[in-house]
Amino acid sequence: MTITTLDTPTAKPLLDWYDRHHRDLPWRISPGVAAGGVRPDPYRVWLSEVMLQQTTVQAVKPYFAKFLQRWPEVTDLAEAETDAVMAAWAGLGYYARARNLKKCAEAVAKEHGGVFPDTEEGLKSLPGIGDYTAAAVAAIAFNRQAAVMDGNVERVISRLYAIETPLPAGKPLMKEKVARLTPATRPGDFAQAMMDLGATICTPKRPACSLCPFRGACAALKLSDPELFPVKAAKKEKPVRQGAAFVAVTADGEILLRRRAESGLLGGMTEVPTTAWTARLDGETSAAAAPFEAAWQACGTVIHVFTHFELRLSIWRAAIAGKVDDRPNDGWWEPVTNLEAQALPTIMKKAIAAAIPLAFKTSKG
Ligand code: ADE
Repeated sequence: MTITTLDTPTAKPLLDWYDRHHRDLPWRISPGVAAGGVRPDPYRVWLSEVMLQQTTVQAVKPYFAKFLQRWPEVTDLAEAETDAVMAAWAGLGYYARARNLKKCAEAVAKEHGGVFPDTEEGLKSLPGIGDYTAAAVAAIAFNRQAAVMDGNVERVISRLYAIETPLPAGKPLMKEKVARLTPATRPGDFAQAMMDLGATICTPKRPACSLCPFRGACAALKLSDPELFPVKAAKKEKPVRQGAAFVAVTADGEILLRRRAESGLLGGMTEVPTTAWTARLDGETSAAAAPFEAAWQACGTVIHVFTHFELRLSIWRAAIAGKVDDRPNDGWWEPVTNLEAQALPTIMKKAIAAAIPLAFKTSKG
């Protein structure tokens, strides 16, 4: 293949593209409005950026709307009950984010007079704000020249410079390239433009290179196949854990729930009683492990993929006459009609739905 000269990458073509093709998102101020000096509300930017970590724009939109309606200002969120925040977050995953969200709102309200710090360093001093969120909020809300890197940006930059080092080892070099490319004017629009480009043009599969503002400067496009970037280290198979979950329902339509330990996976969230989730494939998956004796019936297996393992839960259901007293001491009986208001993570919703198919029939999410 003939290698023609590559343009030197600059921010200009990307910003021009963003002016015409940016996505309209509820937490965003369009570039035309931003050009008039209007900045987006830092609370909205921070809330959206925390929600968008590991989560798609489509999944975030209804949660973002719900949070803003219930807690319009950071000071409202600071005063909310932690349990209410956890329940509102249920289904969005990575629940440490919700606990930190509340702690961060409290810190902004109590230690900063309800006003977010306007530098990366200041933002990073807040609970739950790491490199990514600090850079994103500093750039988008405060127009600071911060290098913002997420999965979309990594893909764009690794292709633009044909970076051969696999992730995660290639990250520092990618960040350096992003920092050099980030302009002093419009750094917030630049960060969002990189994200939009990654989400709509420079996609993981079949990127639309002919529409890309970087097509004259993209080393991966000139040298080989952009889909080969970012280079990934060989994937390890996820380990499997298994266990059993028990859905006990009374004749009055109440279900036994309990609260998970405050720390660790799904910390502080609500669950039905389960065995330990063990890596041993002969781990306890039978009715013999139930919290009390009843006519437990098998309702199949639900599978949920967490970041570090795949969980297979055998689901057991028992219809019982009335509440049983020898329940786990952190347990309580909750009407099935009130499950939507509980802080149930997705795996627990799946477990309950396997035993009571209509439990979430009113669910919108
Ligand atoms: N993903 C993470 N942050 C984003 C943003 N501000 N705009 C679009 N996608 C995003």
